[in-house]
Amino acid sequence: MTLHDWRVLPPGVVEPLLAAEIDAWARDLHWDVRQSWAVVEPARRAGRLPGRVVMDSSGRPQGWTCFFADGRSIQVMAIVATSAAATARLVESLMTSPQADTAETISCFVRGNAPGLDACLRAMGFQVGEYRYLVRESAPCPDQTTSGPAGRPHTIRRWSAGSSAHGGAVAYQDVASLLERAYAASPELRAFAPHGTSDEWHDYLENLLDRIDCGRFLPEASYVATGPEALDGVVITTRLDETTAHIAQLAVDPSARARGIGRALLDAALGAAAACQLPRTSLLVSDANARALALYAGQGFVQRASFVAARLAHPRRLTSVALATGGASTRR
Ligand SMILES: CC(C)(COP(=O)(O)OP(=O)(O)OC[C@H]1O[C@@H](n2cnc3c(N)ncnc32)[C@H](O)[C@@H]1OP(=O)(O)O)[C@@H](O)C(=O)NCCC(=O)NCCS
Repeated sequence: MTLHDWRVLPPGVVEPLLAAEIDAWARDLHWDVRQSWAVVEPARRAGRLPGRVVMDSSGRPQGWTCFFADGRSIQVMAIVATSAAATARLVESLMTSPQADTAETISCFVRGNAPGLDACLRAMGFQVGEYRYLVRESAPCPDQTTSGPAGRPHTIRRWSAGSSAHGGAVAYQDVASLLERAYAASPELRAFAPHGTSDEWHDYLENLLDRIDCGRFLPEASYVATGPEALDGVVITTRLDETTAHIAQLAVDPSARARGIGRALLDAALGAAAACQLPRTSLLVSDANARALALYAGQGFVQRASFVAARLAHPRRLTSVALATGGASTRR
């Protein structure tokens, strides 16, 4: 197999690869990424988006990857491959890229379809976690106002109308700070806010509400649970395509857990999504998140696909060791 810098390949080679992946997201995940991925091909052609294509001896593409690189970090956008050998070549190419020389971290959050991807990343020293893509096909009636037990009343109220949290009735900073508290002790490998800092949560929330990478924010199906003093919980919902809502975030303050708030928020979001003519709801959850998995199983969500989350700190230091000892190639 041969490896090619995709920035110098003709559009006739790369565009069908992108189109096939966009189709796969629509078919398997009901996730319309056409608009959010529209930037990829122009950025590639302009030489701003590094990537690699691996081809067989007849010149047929067997896989591809691409990644955003800002000097200090590399964010892998996709790893698509037809075989474990192709996966290994792509991961190796990532690790030995000039961008990896200067990067402090490499992070992946990719569809988990490439054969052998998990083992290959582990062999190269990545910390790896699985995220399950769960889907629910119908929704219950919303129950938008509930009272919690044990003298801690809470109200589930809808996110303000409008396309952004900025200037709305829900204070943007309150939500970012709730997310920071809610995930502070979570053991799973997080693709978003990897270090859990306030700045990371702020950026994450801004992206979620204002951009379309994780679907288009749907304030009509997003709710907060307000406690006596602060926000107790939040559910942030987006729209992935004409039929599918996505629970992009569900979080409850640690001091308010196990009182039914998470379930009440989820019920409210599911009911509102159905009212928006979105009969299907999906979400991503770490397979290490037992509480959330139990909650979603109880609400009828079933696994439809999986994603791989992975992170490697100081890739340059580790790459030479991993490659010298066989690294990804031993897994072919
Ligand atoms: C997941 C989370 C939202 C649940 O919120 P919550 O308000 O505690 O949940 P509820 O009290 O409504 O409980 C709903 C279900 O969750 C599960 N659950 C709640 N607490 C649990 C615990 N300690 N152990 C195992 N399961 C638990 C149960 O299935 C429960 O249903 P049941 O009461 O019928 O048994 C909350 O733990 C959280 O914010 N976690 C951190 C953020 C996160 O992981 N979000 C999900 C991302 S996909």
